[in-house]
Amino acid sequence: MSKRYERRYRRKGLDDNQLQLVRELESMGLNGLTLLEVGCGVGALHQTLLEKGASTATGIDLAPCMLQHAESRAKERELEQRTQYRLGDFVEISESLDSVDVTILDKVVCCYPAPKELIRATLDCTNRVIALTYPRKHLLGEIYNKIWNFGFWLFRSDFRGFMHESRLVQESIEAGGFKRVFDRDSPMWHTQVYIAG
Ligand SMILES: C[S@@+](CC[C@H](N)C(=O)[O-])C[C@H]1O[C@@H](n2cnc3c(N)ncnc32)[C@H](O)[C@@H]1O
Repeated sequence: MSKRYERRYRRKGLDDNQLQLVRELESMGLNGLTLLEVGCGVGALHQTLLEKGASTATGIDLAPCMLQHAESRAKERELEQRTQYRLGDFVEISESLDSVDVTILDKVVCCYPAPKELIRATLDCTNRVIALTYPRKHLLGEIYNKIWNFGFWLFRSDFRGFMHESRLVQESIEAGGFKRVFDRDSPMWHTQVYIAG
């Protein structure tokens, strides 16, 4: 998967949801802000935000190969002094992290079976902004998810995708004192930004 992500990013750049998040965060003013990207993959999103004015970023991922790509990309973009990477399950290591201004969860809520725990850990780490994308739970999305999960099973991977109710995700963030300030839907994804209120 990490090779696929890296290839896609090199060929096509950020996807539409990521570009939407970049535009929204940029319009809110990124200068000097500290970032945390949970499930950062090959690092494309937070590295772009660093180039647009954020100060430092921590990327966390469960997959060592994703982080290897992220680290070599950070070097290539001369961002190695402003990035750090942590391998592990965010929920398990969140207590050891410094809090940041902005936490990003781009296509990662759907990797985690317990969204409330993931959001609780996010709230604990975030001072100002939570930006996230996650799949819309509708019939087509459910079918797509089942096909992916069948593929993971076929290739003997433990990984599974989960479709969570958007109301559960939204209410959990809002219950932590954050207010939704941006909300766009594409056919498959929600893209949302919340600020501490
Ligand atoms: C679908 S990929 C998205 C990667 C990246 N955000 C992007 O859109 O290019 C989800 C990533 O989240 C990571 N991940 C899933 N659950 C995680 C967790 N609990 N803690 C840290 N990383 C996690 C996976 O290893 C994977 O690299």
